[in-house]
Amino acid sequence: MPDQPQRSGLLADLDEIIIESAAITQRLKQLGQEISESYRGRELIVISIINGAIIFTADLIRQIQVPLLLDCIRVSSYRNATAPTQAPEIIDSIRLELQGANVLLVDDILDTGNTLSRVASALSEMQPASLKTCVLLDKKTRRSVAFEADFVGFEIPDAFVVGYGLDFAERYRQLPCIGVLNPDRQRSNQRA
Ligand code: IMP
Ligand code: MG
Repeated sequence: MPDQPQRSGLLADLDEIIIESAAITQRLKQLGQEISESYRGRELIVISIINGAIIFTADLIRQIQVPLLLDCIRVSSYRNATAPTQAPEIIDSIRLELQGANVLLVDDILDTGNTLSRVASALSEMQPASLKTCVLLDKKTRRSVAFEADFVGFEIPDAFVVGYGLDFAERYRQLPCIGVLNPDRQRSNQRA
């Protein structure tokens, strides 16, 4: 069967695919094992930073063997740019009680570190028994605050990437792979 036209159209906006869909699937199996081992015999609360971590979280939790509860948190983000311009704020918080719980905070990408350090410090005020973080992607060279994730899918170079939940102006989240967005596309898409 031919590719769906919309999907080939979106793929054509990428300069380069840096992580294929099959590689993501394979890495998530390993991450799921690492996480399951690290929480063996305990229950987990997974908190997903939406919208970016939606797809990663959905696939990751199906690779985790220990019992878990799921909640989401929404953080103000990038507006319509490829670089952050202001401090992230929590705009919709979680519903679950975290006191005494083992919490795993999940995001799509660790870039400057501002988002995860802000959210992690807000969650630790809720006195969980433990708080760890998991990201699909890590742009290590871009850090402006000292923050490292406990579980990392892939380390990537400093380029603006989209797909598998990561967006540019809310677009491209449905791509099954991760790719570098063509700079012309970044300019022509600046509407939302
Ligand atoms: P940080 O606060 O700079 O660490 O950035 C984390 C957030 O920025 C992520 O949750 C993403 O929403 C966004 N972000 C950072 N780099 C990229 C990228 O290359 N593509 C899409 N979103 C990104
Ligand atoms: Mg995000």
